[in-house]
Amino acid sequence: MPITRYLTGITTTGSPHLGNYVGAIKPAVDFSRATDTESFYFLADYHALIKSEQPERVAESTLEIAATWLALGLDPDRVTFYRQSDIPEIAELTWILTCSTAKGLMNKAHAYKAAVDANRALAVDDDAGINMGLYMYPVLMAADILAFRAQQVPVGRDQIQHIEICRDLAQRFNHRFGQILTLPEAAVNESTATLPGLDGRKMSKSYGNTIALMLDEKALKKAINKIVTNLKAPGEPKGTDESGLYPIWCAFANAAEGAWMAEQLAQGMAWGEAKRELFEKINGAVGPARERYHALLAAPKQVEEILLEGAKRARVTSREVVAAARAAVGIRALG
Ligand code: TRP
Repeated sequence: MPITRYLTGITTTGSPHLGNYVGAIKPAVDFSRATDTESFYFLADYHALIKSEQPERVAESTLEIAATWLALGLDPDRVTFYRQSDIPEIAELTWILTCSTAKGLMNKAHAYKAAVDANRALAVDDDAGINMGLYMYPVLMAADILAFRAQQVPVGRDQIQHIEICRDLAQRFNHRFGQILTLPEAAVNESTATLPGLDGRKMSKSYGNTIALMLDEKALKKAINKIVTNLKAPGEPKGTDESGLYPIWCAFANAAEGAWMAEQLAQGMAWGEAKRELFEKINGAVGPARERYHALLAAPKQVEEILLEGAKRARVTSREVVAAARAAVGIRALG
């Protein structure tokens, strides 16, 4: 049976937090250990340029994210792990696709539309502050996928439209120039948890309610203590919906432990006690990776080598695909 190729990108803005761990990193690392699949995971640093004007942060975030994934068990011998900007074929394919992308299609992309809506709400020009990177984002993402003939693309719900656009672009290209590009499918894992943040809303950098993933023990304890609860005293029965604490617990616990915590809260366990339990749980899950993480941060050259080796392997495919695409559109050796 042919092996299915999975591919997904991680935009290199910000530092990984517990929500990323539960929603993306852990499922991806677990998944990559399955034997009947082939996984391509990459650091989408070109995508990061759309949002960030801070070069130092882009560079730092790239190292932090790479070190985090490796420390948490991503095995670069099993998975092709690379950095987008090390694959020149992605930029080439982006332009080739751009030239057969309808502008009207890009007008409908969510990220661009949301930015326009925000401008309208402020009664400023529709395109105020919007760069072409944001506008073209779906084409770059399509090139990321198509350059490697990926079949399944694990993404969150917010990214489904981008996969549809990718299919659309590939279909148009194939129709005009011949069967060259492979149409991917979105692999949306409905069961991956979204984690609440400190204030109970979805944990997200944009809400400023995150708990960073690689905190040392003391800082982790402190962060967990900031999870918002109500004023119910020790001994008073507490519901599982009265704080983000319980769903966070469940994301790290098995079913029996989840039931146990619900029971403890119902019987009046103090919030402080529940937070101590939660600290132990999270620390048990990520603590063992902490040392490896710091060792990798201190050895950026080693991470660099891993990524370059990944790019070398990945380019075996992207070179083939882009060579075929170039020839198909008429960019050929003369004579
Ligand atoms: N845009 C994706 C996100 O923000 C990241 C990404 C970039 C990606 N290129 C990709 C995901 C290709 C899947 C495939 O989450």
